[in-house]
Amino acid sequence: MKMVDLRSDTLTLPTREMLESILDAPLGDDARDRDPTVERLEEMAARKVGKEEAVLVTSGTQANLVSLLSQTSPGDEVIVESEAHINYYEAGGLSSVAGLMPRPVVGKLGALSPDQVERTILTGTPRRSRIQLICIENTHNRAGGTCISPSQIADLKEVADKHGLSIYMDGARIFNAAIALRVDVRELTKNVDSMMFCLSKGLSGPVGSIVLGTHEFIKKAREWRSVLGGTLRQAGIIAAPGIVALEKMIDRLREDHENARRLAEGLVDIRGIVVDMRTVQTNIVKLDVSGLGCDCNRFMTELEKHGVRASGLGGSMVRMVTYRGIEASDINTALERIRATAESLRA
Ligand SMILES: Cc1ncc(COP(=O)(O)O)c(C=O)c1O
Repeated sequence: MKMVDLRSDTLTLPTREMLESILDAPLGDDARDRDPTVERLEEMAARKVGKEEAVLVTSGTQANLVSLLSQTSPGDEVIVESEAHINYYEAGGLSSVAGLMPRPVVGKLGALSPDQVERTILTGTPRRSRIQLICIENTHNRAGGTCISPSQIADLKEVADKHGLSIYMDGARIFNAAIALRVDVRELTKNVDSMMFCLSKGLSGPVGSIVLGTHEFIKKAREWRSVLGGTLRQAGIIAAPGIVALEKMIDRLREDHENARRLAEGLVDIRGIVVDMRTVQTNIVKLDVSGLGCDCNRFMTELEKHGVRASGLGGSMVRMVTYRGIEASDINTALERIRATAESLRA
């Protein structure tokens, strides 16, 4: 039985074209004289999202940490959505490495409201406030791949400007948001000061994320990347597949979104499983299995026996993610197996 693995879009493998692109990529020592393929990717990425400059880093987590370090000082505070990846899954790097104090705010469908943000800024001793940055996550992973719209970002920007703060966007899946919202990605980036996106998720690149912002910010980001041991030599072997990812892999994300919707629509017909369809916007489906009388771990153990893998979000919440390599037929197979799992748990 072939497993249908819906744990994460980080499972995507590089395409043949990506692997072949490595063979012909002009390479150099990026730490010394720059690697021409890395330079090409960075320029292409900056143009694509409409930022002044870009720098290639090894992972999304490194991108977030480098970005935080480049625009804060130890002891500063940052507003983050309470379940943001930065706050939840990055081994506490924002505190232990960057020395930052998170000010978590519970968002709605992953988005912070301007009122909540303003209230947080004004709570405590605003005159001595060390809040520097508002961090948003688009799409929001733990909220179920939900999008933050250009107008929501514009509203946050108004509050940020009023209080002299900057906005940073963890845009690991920003192209998923652009495709789902049917907007040019620059509509989502124009009101943030700095950001990152990942090449290695739905875009299918094997390694790498891109940090973007002003020339000054990227200069600092290069320094912090170096401090973190992230300056690479012939990094063109990572950048070449990244170029293919940006050229060829963005539009097809809509297939992942269609498959996620097909999955969600099938799941709501299974007794004991609940999906909040408002959250089904991109390639992530979040389901509640409490109606089956079990928690996510028990459900996932049983599900794996039936040939489907998913990830747990804690309590009774489970996450399933679609990506290149998961076809519509796999979704049908997964649904049959999830139905059988639900029946065996109810028995
Ligand atoms: C929203 C978000 N930000 C950052 C990351 C971190 O990326 P990486 O796994 O490349 O460190 C992830 C990973 O899934 C993510 O979902």
